[in-house]
Amino acid sequence: MNCSAKPAHFLWLLLATLFLAGCDVSMTQQKKARALSPSAFWHDGASARPLPPGTVAQGDLARDAAATDPPPVSLAIVAKGRERYDIFCAPCHGLAGEGDGIVVARGFPAPQSFALARLRAAPAQHFFDAITNGYGTMYPFGARIPPQDRWAIIAYVRALQLASAAQLASVPEAAEKIR
Ligand code: HEC
Repeated sequence: MNCSAKPAHFLWLLLATLFLAGCDVSMTQQKKARALSPSAFWHDGASARPLPPGTVAQGDLARDAAATDPPPVSLAIVAKGRERYDIFCAPCHGLAGEGDGIVVARGFPAPQSFALARLRAAPAQHFFDAITNGYGTMYPFGARIPPQDRWAIIAYVRALQLASAAQLASVPEAAEKIR
């Protein structure tokens, strides 16, 4: 027996197995309705079936509850908000929230500064809704930022707003250090 031929035999066997394995078309050629294709089977002529009334997608109820239930503010939440803000918002709103991010420097319309009196007085819900649904030219982030992170971002925006209006008198220790 010629032992040097063995690896070649094995290779052919492997190739044949792979080739034959690719011949099973039972899944691809079975009768099926393609997404959104018409169908004579149902009285409304559509193959897609309407959801039964009251159907709730998995996780929707928890998400809805989180959207109306801001977590208590803590240093950890503000830190988390800062991290998320720097990733998602700073490119346009700027690191300090002044509306001068790098995307704006490249020609995107500039958002107004978060330090404006109107935005300092705006309720947290205004920010939450803008993040969730978008606002004018700003696209929505509802699908990308979970509700808990949206609240964290808002806590950090509040910190930016506080900082923008801070007087030296509001941080006496800093005044000590400067002197
Ligand atoms: C692609 C750039 C861009 C990104 C990213 C972005 N924004 Fe905006 N945002 C804008 C622009 C531009 C406006 C003003 C839109 C308008 O007035 O038509 C705006 C408006 C807003 C407003 C409403 C302000 C007002 O005048 O009432 C809020 C609140 C806001 N953004 C928060 C955020 C937060 C928080 C993030 C991060 C999760 C974020 N934005 C990410 C561009 C952006």
